[in-house]
Amino acid sequence: MTSEARRVEHQMTDKGYVPVYTTAVVAQPWASYSVADHAVWGQLFRRQREILQGRACPEFLDAMDAMGMSDARIPKFEELNVHLQKATGWKLIGVEGLLPELTFFEHLAAREFPVTWWIRRPDQIDYIAEPDLFHDLFGHVPLLMNPLFADYMQAYGAGGVRASTFGAESLANLTRLYWYTVEFGLIDTPAGLRIYGAGILSSKGESIHCLESAAPNRIGFDVQRVMQTRYRIDTYQKTYFVIEGFEQLFKATVDPDFAPLYDRMRGAEPIPAAAVLDRDRVFNRGTGEGWLADGDV
Ligand code: PHE
Ligand code: CO
Repeated sequence: MTSEARRVEHQMTDKGYVPVYTTAVVAQPWASYSVADHAVWGQLFRRQREILQGRACPEFLDAMDAMGMSDARIPKFEELNVHLQKATGWKLIGVEGLLPELTFFEHLAAREFPVTWWIRRPDQIDYIAEPDLFHDLFGHVPLLMNPLFADYMQAYGAGGVRASTFGAESLANLTRLYWYTVEFGLIDTPAGLRIYGAGILSSKGESIHCLESAAPNRIGFDVQRVMQTRYRIDTYQKTYFVIEGFEQLFKATVDPDFAPLYDRMRGAEPIPAAAVLDRDRVFNRGTGEGWLADGDV
């Protein structure tokens, strides 16, 4: 533990924003949050909770209540950890910003979820390039209360440590799986499609866009299809993958050995983010309205 927690943000250069990585684990400096910090949390919390009624999966909304997260103040990691410990054995750890990939995997494999301790400024309410406390805590933490999802996250971390030994291409395959599930996943329920991906859950615009817009594709989850599909980080997604339940996600990823799968995918052209393939199970074929015609990356 370092004594003073720093706020490590992306740097603006003449090539645009570049991410800055930091490995320190810090105690959440809760007393240092300003009135404005708590107000940003409260404003975002109220806004998202309202939007997410009937849009987020029930497991997410129920877990958030069970953990006692509210708009009143920025939650204390220590208090959330009491609930997590009891439910699934997960533990939140404070970090200063983005972790290097391998360090991130190692924490997940140890059932430690890194949460950025600092929150965005009021002028960044609607968009911030990097993960902050609101994204990490509001978006990711509630589902760690769900036993299946909790096990998926740990197995993903262990799988990441392992994929690192297979080379950059396998790592890219696995990173796409995280992107299209943990960050931007949709889940089919008897009441209709719902959101479980944290990147959507912490975004006002995308929470509505991903379910209601005619523009994006919504396609049934297939693990190899997902691992070959490119993605963009700076616009709404062109394609969302829909799981039938956390059971399906678990069975398709945790049980199988990915080594032969990585071998099979080696050297293959990635699938463009916007593509719909003949073998896809299509919930909705996107109109593509509003998409940038500048390729996927
Ligand atoms: N089963 C995968 C492997 O053999 C690991 C993994 C688990 C990957 C869960 C993603 C999610 O490498
Ligand atoms: Co995230």
